[in-house]
Amino acid sequence: MDIGKIFENNKEWISKHLDLDDHYFDDLSKGQSPEILYIGCSDSRVTAEEMMGARPGEVFVHRNIANVVPNNDLNVLSVINYAVKHLKVKHVVVCGHYYCGGIKAAMEPNDLGILNPWLRNIRDVYRIHKDELNAIDDEESRYKRLVELNVLEQCINLYKVTEVHQAFDEGKVTIHGWVFDIKTGKLIDQKLDFEKIGKGLFDIYFTKEA
Ligand code: CO
Repeated sequence: MDIGKIFENNKEWISKHLDLDDHYFDDLSKGQSPEILYIGCSDSRVTAEEMMGARPGEVFVHRNIANVVPNNDLNVLSVINYAVKHLKVKHVVVCGHYYCGGIKAAMEPNDLGILNPWLRNIRDVYRIHKDELNAIDDEESRYKRLVELNVLEQCINLYKVTEVHQAFDEGKVTIHGWVFDIKTGKLIDQKLDFEKIGKGLFDIYFTKEA
């Protein structure tokens, strides 16, 4: 893409909106109240708003390599805190995608420098599910399954963030795990049941009195 063309595109985009609604940008400047927090991959092919048909103001977005929710990443935790506590979003989505370069890199035993600690989040997902994953002979299927399991584990990480599980328990927020298939363009809801998954997640940390 020609970087100079971007400013021409921007002018066209402005007039397209103003043709339909004189107050479009005035209205946008007044504030946001999105109902969805979307956490997805930085991959240039997985365009968050475009594939969902969402307009500006509708989705609060965070993207990083392989849609990870580490419990020590101030960036993603701040986004989650702001979205849940202040914007009061109703839905939190973790969206992975097939053919994810981050997932692929995590499956290979290469030294990738600064990416190593980031990819370890995904390598840990592999370790947790290694019996299931190692039983899949076909490499592409194993890779795709790791994409799905990474979404599951990142949803669990999300659930474990205090403000999220409190909002979830109060029925204010629902958690969704999705996968985008680049080959077909399809967005797939993994239909994760956090009423079930959430139950017992904290039992390993706290011993209940008899
Ligand atoms: Co990716």
